[in-house]
Amino acid sequence: MTHAHITSWLIAIILFLIAVSLQRSGSAKAKMVQMVLRLFYIITIITGVLLLHSLASLSILYVIKTLAGLWVIGAMEMVLMAMKKGKSTAVAWVQWVVALALVLFLGLMLPLGIDLF
Ligand code: HEM
Repeated sequence: MTHAHITSWLIAIILFLIAVSLQRSGSAKAKMVQMVLRLFYIITIITGVLLLHSLASLSILYVIKTLAGLWVIGAMEMVLMAMKKGKSTAVAWVQWVVALALVLFLGLMLPLGIDLF
């Protein structure tokens, strides 16, 4: 399940960056990529929930990891929404970077899957 989780969020991040560049160039394909991106949000959340389900007990770090994962997804939506509306994306980008750093750190620190620390 960890592999499915990693694959889904990696694809989501790549699709997000593609959607950003398509949106920037004003391409009509941006909308389509964003629809597929939303599907990968769902797969990421489902695989994350299945990982949570495999745990015998839930520590506070898992709760923070889950919230940070949802925050990354929320920040990606914020960036794309702000771009669409022609508003500043700075705050959304900062949130994305902070949330992503937090989720990668916690994900890799926690014991399931690849153990780096
Ligand atoms: C874009 C969003 C997300 C990213 C970038 C992300 C990233 C990661 C990473 C790097 C790992 C560690 C994998 C490993 O050790 O091999 C992981 C594991 C995990 N993720 Fe996520 N995740 C995201 C969203 C979520 C969500 C939404 C949930 C919950 C609904 C979730 C729940 C989990 C759980 C429970 C683990 C297992 C932690 C452990 O290693 O013990 N993740 N994630």
